[in-house]
Amino acid sequence: MNQAMTANEEMLKRIIRHKELKQTEGVPLMFIDSSLDRHYRINYSLIGATASENDDYKPFLTQPHKFHVGMVKAPQLCGPAYHTHDYIESFMPLTGKWRFYFGNSPDEIEGETIIEPWDFITLPAGLWRGFENITEKEAWIFAVVEDHPVFEAKDPYWPEAVVEEAEKLGMKSDENGKMIKPDNFKQMERELYEKVIRMMTEKKSGIKEEK
Ligand SMILES: [Fe+2]
Repeated sequence: MNQAMTANEEMLKRIIRHKELKQTEGVPLMFIDSSLDRHYRINYSLIGATASENDDYKPFLTQPHKFHVGMVKAPQLCGPAYHTHDYIESFMPLTGKWRFYFGNSPDEIEGETIIEPWDFITLPAGLWRGFENITEKEAWIFAVVEDHPVFEAKDPYWPEAVVEEAEKLGMKSDENGKMIKPDNFKQMERELYEKVIRMMTEKKSGIKEEK
């Protein structure tokens, strides 16, 4: 076995503690649809580029891996709009119940399912998919994404209606899947972050937080 030595200090830099992750600010506008109220969510990149249209964030770990790992925290009835990728993405709910819906074209939903913590769903390349948190409070979901080129082509692919709706709010991306940011992007991002966090905090009041 040709084994490279890994120093203890280096090894300790390869740990993501959830307590620390939660203290960092996630990204409220990782995708153009994140601006739409049914699709509000906070994205966290743990490893790699995940599937972002926003090029301005750093994953928690920057050591190269041949896969991408992300997490999403979404308010009740929020999650990504219908979309597809040229690569596999897989999800496991960490809290709450999540409804996944899917089909073979942007115009038609052919099936749906509800999954819970410890369940796992893996979505093939090219399948159109959307999902939402159907719990009465915010919930977390974990994602593993197949390695893929970044900012070389449209990614994700969105239905025309989502593109048009996002564009009305100033959000669009170019042919390489990179967000074209309006001048007030930083302000939009800050305001959206505070709004989504407020929504999740309000939903939580009086309910014991799931660990
Ligand atoms: Fe996706």
